[in-house]
Amino acid sequence: MTEKKAILKVDGREDIALSVYSPSLGQDVVDVGPLTGSQLFTFDPGFTSTASCESKITYIDGEVGKLLHRGYSIEELASQSDYLEVCFLLLHGELPSAEEKELFVSTIKNHTMVHEQLQFFYRGFRRDAHPMAVMCGVVGALSAFYHDSTDIKNPKHREITAMRLIAKMPTIAAMCYKYAVGQPFMYPRNDLSYSENFLHMMFGTPCEESKISPTLAKAMDRIFILHADHEQNASTSTVRLAGSSGANPFACIAAGISALWGPAHGGANEAVLNMLDEIGDVSNIEKYIAKAKDKQDPFKLMGFGHRVYKNYDPRASVMRESCHEVLKELGVNDPKLELALKLEEIALSDPYFKEKKLFPNVDFYSGIILSAIGIPTSMFTVIFALSRTVGWIAHWNEMISNPYKIGRPRQLYTGATERSFIPADKR
Ligand code: ACO
Repeated sequence: MTEKKAILKVDGREDIALSVYSPSLGQDVVDVGPLTGSQLFTFDPGFTSTASCESKITYIDGEVGKLLHRGYSIEELASQSDYLEVCFLLLHGELPSAEEKELFVSTIKNHTMVHEQLQFFYRGFRRDAHPMAVMCGVVGALSAFYHDSTDIKNPKHREITAMRLIAKMPTIAAMCYKYAVGQPFMYPRNDLSYSENFLHMMFGTPCEESKISPTLAKAMDRIFILHADHEQNASTSTVRLAGSSGANPFACIAAGISALWGPAHGGANEAVLNMLDEIGDVSNIEKYIAKAKDKQDPFKLMGFGHRVYKNYDPRASVMRESCHEVLKELGVNDPKLELALKLEEIALSDPYFKEKKLFPNVDFYSGIILSAIGIPTSMFTVIFALSRTVGWIAHWNEMISNPYKIGRPRQLYTGATERSFIPADKR
């Protein structure tokens, strides 16, 4: 990082010199650290102009629609790599050699089972609970089951926790589904790939051998890759903030899952399908576009817009391609896809969406693929959480391995000034 200077001039105060860092890629960053003790804070609600940390994991250029993990483009990773290789890359910074990959995959496979007692934990939930509610609870509870690896200062503990989380998330996610539909939990099968095993635990039963379609397993793996990491988004920032207090990693990931749940973030893929159901037919699109543009109407086009991408989300382009491939190979003629494509076409040619640079995001297409695979809508965000776990843990680990402070933002206070307390009978 090279260093430049910015001078902050505030009326009636001495000038303050601030360092300006030039990153390896992207825009310069002004270090406002010297403001500490100067009786001045910066004000940036929603963190739209704030770099909350230094990171070497993921780079996004939202203007041109570029996403790189450790320098490799998402398009190359999605077409030439697989999810576990991407996990290794995110965690370790480099692609694995053939031997490293073999060892990593076999270690993950050896951690896919969950503690047998965890199934009793599931039984405390209502059968109709949302799977994300179950997922938040179960992942938070992991620290009670795997307490032997929660010393965050110990790199070996951090590594074993990362492996456990990546390995067990598909098992936990599939158990959420099996519990909801009242079928027996399926044990993982270590002869299968990561995505095949997930489909086996989702759709297999003890009554017969699972038959897993390679096309669906490939599509699933691609969904995992495309959701693996996305720099300092709401859930990743939540994991970092929770982790900055020294909380154990399972608790931090549970916090990330909670932040992901909202419809403005990971819950959007579920919201897209619900929206397509609500629109119902191509003939209603104009009406819904008008609702999305009406400031008095809270309706938004789910799956459109992104805080960072002001161009096509590169993950959406890959997902769009995948979506067509999957539906073609499966011979599915989904009217929802037709509706989605028409909606995309109309929205993209509408001046409102063009001017505000609102493009379809990754969630717009992932829902269509997941429903073609037979995954119920309520499980979509759970699958996002499963995929994003590696990103969360990579960021948490990056933070803990370097000097860090507890995250503690300040505020622009606009409440009452100091006043005297009046007893209730005198108010
Ligand atoms: N439909 C209609 N109008 C929209 C939409 C949308 N989906 N998204 C943004 N806008 C409008 C806003 O009303 C606002 O208009 P204004 O300037 O006239 O007030 C303008 O575009 C800017 O929108 P903001 O909400 O300020 O943008 P922000 O960066 O804060 O929000 C967000 C981004 C939350 C993703 C938003 O676009 C949204 O809610 N989209 C729908 C939900 C969604 O798809 N989320 C998934 C995000 S991707 C992910 O998590 C993987």
